[in-house]
Amino acid sequence: MAKETVHVDLGDRSYDIHIGPELLPKAGSYIKPYLKRNHVAIITDETVAGLHLATLEAGLAAENITSVALKLPAGESTKSWEMLQKTVEWLLSEQIERDDIVIAFGGGVIGDLAGFSASILRRGVRFIQIPTSLLAQVDSSVGGKTGINSPHGKNLVGAFYQPQLVLADVAALGTLTPRDFLAGYGEVVKYGMLGDATFFEWLEVNGPAMAAGDMDKRIMAVKRSCQMKADIVARDEKERGDRALLNLGHTFCHALEAATGYSDRLLHGEGVAIGCALAFETSMRLGLCSQEAPSRVRAHLRAMGMKVDLSDIAGDLPDADGLLALMAQDKKVQSGKLAFIMARSIGDSFVDRNVDLSVVKSVLQDALTAR
Ligand code: GLY
Repeated sequence: MAKETVHVDLGDRSYDIHIGPELLPKAGSYIKPYLKRNHVAIITDETVAGLHLATLEAGLAAENITSVALKLPAGESTKSWEMLQKTVEWLLSEQIERDDIVIAFGGGVIGDLAGFSASILRRGVRFIQIPTSLLAQVDSSVGGKTGINSPHGKNLVGAFYQPQLVLADVAALGTLTPRDFLAGYGEVVKYGMLGDATFFEWLEVNGPAMAAGDMDKRIMAVKRSCQMKADIVARDEKERGDRALLNLGHTFCHALEAATGYSDRLLHGEGVAIGCALAFETSMRLGLCSQEAPSRVRAHLRAMGMKVDLSDIAGDLPDADGLLALMAQDKKVQSGKLAFIMARSIGDSFVDRNVDLSVVKSVLQDALTAR
């Protein structure tokens, strides 16, 4: 399959997402049109640098673009004030100018941190996302959410700041561990569940081959995910309405991530998958969707070898009241009301601010009892 392009339509802040194999070796030709001088700053992490930085640097050098790279520690704790300061001061010490380009090269952590650094450096320097994880290719590199975590919670400090360009090289996904790949797949299947039943059906058939490495299916899945996100972001960039649909499963997920200390016990995409299963179960109990919908969601996640139930999370969890209390910390709480994304069927979801919390509690209690 040839390279695909998805356009994010945001007026003068519009940009393209290129999706294909072997984009890193050609990165220079994609990036060159954006440069005022042939020099870029790359923000990456130590793991991605070890695997892919030489390929990116060679791709830039092929177009006579010089580069400097900052390699930060891998992991969520890098999305911190300390690393933000380090990144911004490094960019200043490297004399990155107002018209230069910063490249975010890595997974979601690097994309968020580098994008936010670019947004505040000299009151805004342009940046390009080169996501290397499946989660970053289908979600965090698209749509302009950037930021860091605070001791008060995840993603509480940041800005909407759109990139100039996104290069999603699906060949780079080959170095992901199966666990990281499947965590990203949690966000892919989310798009089918929230708004495209045909895509969900396609994933039911093609998901296993895609996970096994089929390049054409990877391109197709990343493209459809990015298209759906691009459409939603174009309608609602700042999340005043429809963009919240992208949070299907996330209210449950955030509580589970907080309960597991944002540790390796539960990766974000794993929490999204479990959260989607819980959201469909809640929708069914509220009489919004048929019994078949949560069963199909669970069956597909199981067939992919993903975490589906609370029993798939190792170690202790709080009781249902404890999980509900963690949900109430969600940054999307408005006037004390929690926002849930509920479903009428697979592919038909909506924002619901009036979910009966006693139903959520009973769903959680039953899920905890089954552990
Ligand atoms: N990951 C959700 C969003 O970008 O809105």
